[in-house]
Amino acid sequence: MTQVQTHDRQAIPGIKDMLAVSSGKGGVGKSTLSANLAVALAEQGLRIGLLDADIYGPNIPGMLGVHERPQADPQSGRIQPLEAHGIKFLSMGLLIETGVPVIWRGPMLAKMINQFLFNTDWGALDIVLLDLPPGTGDVQITLTQSAPLTGALIVTTPSAIALEDVRRGVEMFRQTEVPLLGLVENMSAFSCDQCGHQAQLFGRGGGAQTAELLSIPFLHSIPLDTVLRESADRGEPAVRSQPQAASSQEINALGQRIAAHFA
Ligand SMILES: Nc1ncnc2c1ncn2[C@@H]1O[C@H](COP(=O)(O)OP(=O)(O)OP(=O)(O)O)[C@@H](O)[C@H]1O
Ligand SMILES: [Mg+2]
Repeated sequence: MTQVQTHDRQAIPGIKDMLAVSSGKGGVGKSTLSANLAVALAEQGLRIGLLDADIYGPNIPGMLGVHERPQADPQSGRIQPLEAHGIKFLSMGLLIETGVPVIWRGPMLAKMINQFLFNTDWGALDIVLLDLPPGTGDVQITLTQSAPLTGALIVTTPSAIALEDVRRGVEMFRQTEVPLLGLVENMSAFSCDQCGHQAQLFGRGGGAQTAELLSIPFLHSIPLDTVLRESADRGEPAVRSQPQAASSQEINALGQRIAAHFA
């Protein structure tokens, strides 16, 4: 990987910390975790923002159940983030018609990310979470160059095949000097609500082994949980609508760890 320059990073007035939620592989649950973690942190009393940095595949509006168009301030031209479930958020998905693909090359993408970061009235916030697309592509380069990231989480499934992808993500954050808070294993054991049997559909213990191999902290396992998927599809974060669900409880516990880290 080429060395990324990090000297362009500027602080965003009012924003204390910025946390990237990242993964090497696609579909491991970054957006689901970002949306629920953001709401969980807000429920703990923190002022939280969520920036959907997945320009080509924005899923945050659907997961929060909001499809309004954000407005720009007529005087300053600055974008006004939307608010729902106790958090402020912004997504490319709010600016395009549903189902219309975004077909942009890198420079346009970087421009949009920079608008979301620096031309948006985020106000005073404790933490802004960034839901990243998978991999180490243009968005990640732009963000690690210009966003004042103060931490990154890496999400993976327990499957051993994800190890190489995790390694690339870890290396990217190390090279760009973004502190790695650690690894979160998602889609771990599934508990049958009929008989209580636990099935390890994506393998067992892969997250902890990967974290040990790469010398990063292993933070938490989030179970595979129908509640989490159904509530994401309905646009109601499970941590709020079904806080007693196993996945909600684990995401809340992860939130407490993250809040303590940034306190
Ligand atoms: N712990 C879980 N239990 C059950 N379903 C889950 C869990 N985590 C995520 N999902 C479901 O898996 C699917 C993929 O999740 P999500 O879109 O959050 O992944 P992603 O990593 O953001 O994907 P992409 O790489 O495309 O951005 C969604 O349908 C989501 O509801
Ligand atoms: Mg996603």
